[in-house]
Amino acid sequence: MHARGGHLYIQLMHAGRVSHPDNTPHHRRPVAPSEIAAGQDMFTPTGPQPMPVPRALATDEIADVVAEFRHAAAAAIAAGADGVEIHAANGYLLHQFLSPNANERTDAYGGSVENRSRFVVEVAAAVADEIGADRAGIRISPAFPLGGIDEGPRENVHAQYLDLVGRLAPLSLAYLHVHHLGDDELLRAMREAWPTAVLVVRYGRTREQIADDIDAGLADLAPLGRFALANPDVVERLRTGAALNELDPDTLYAGGARGYVDYPVLAGA
Ligand SMILES: Cc1cc2nc3c(=O)[nH]c(=O)nc-3n(C[C@H](O)[C@H](O)[C@H](O)COP(=O)(O)O)c2cc1C
Repeated sequence: MHARGGHLYIQLMHAGRVSHPDNTPHHRRPVAPSEIAAGQDMFTPTGPQPMPVPRALATDEIADVVAEFRHAAAAAIAAGADGVEIHAANGYLLHQFLSPNANERTDAYGGSVENRSRFVVEVAAAVADEIGADRAGIRISPAFPLGGIDEGPRENVHAQYLDLVGRLAPLSLAYLHVHHLGDDELLRAMREAWPTAVLVVRYGRTREQIADDIDAGLADLAPLGRFALANPDVVERLRTGAALNELDPDTLYAGGARGYVDYPVLAGA
């Protein structure tokens, strides 16, 4: 990737309760902030199975998970990545800590907006300390109801994410990546509080809509998911108005290289 002029950030993700013992080498019970199941099925080698009730992390285990993120960040850089993205979105462990319906802890990591932010802030601070803040981005998805997450009424979501962004801002991370569901007032407030770049993605934009959030002053950058998967030369195609390859949904989440490295580039590129 570097030889071709590319940059690589590796996303660091802990699934928390969105997991199944059959999908782990030692068939371990998943861990989470509290003993509350996601309430959904997960694909396993024997077919879909309900995700079990997780084991709540003990207070003194939380520092171990923070240390694992630190270690993973160092390993990503050692492997040649330019940086990492901390995955605090989409219903996984960090998002579970932020969400009152997944986090009923009574220690310093639950029970209030500030306490629910604490784990995410500790992970971000550790990763920034390990590899440098300018090599660490973070992804959030306020109110995204994935993996059984329910962050409550709009005012709760605002309070939680403005608290979180306010506590992360002094770290001056490389960027804030928002999976945006449409609350532009919240997005604007977060962007005002954030010192570096804000990346905004909305699910399922058309080609014509990609730059809308930048034009509206809501974002600095527009990340691309599926367009980039299906088009290794997506920037060139957008720049020149060339047609885009059609994504083959059967190859998504399938494992293996097919559908990830074999879409054609434009003739002459
Ligand atoms: C096959 C596939 C895998 C994805 N994996 C991740 C992931 O590991 N982490 C993540 O934060 N988002 C993941 N996403 C969400 C994308 O990052 C992106 O936010 C979403 O696809 C919307 O953007 P798009 O309409 O440009 O594709 C995935 C999406 C797809 C289609």
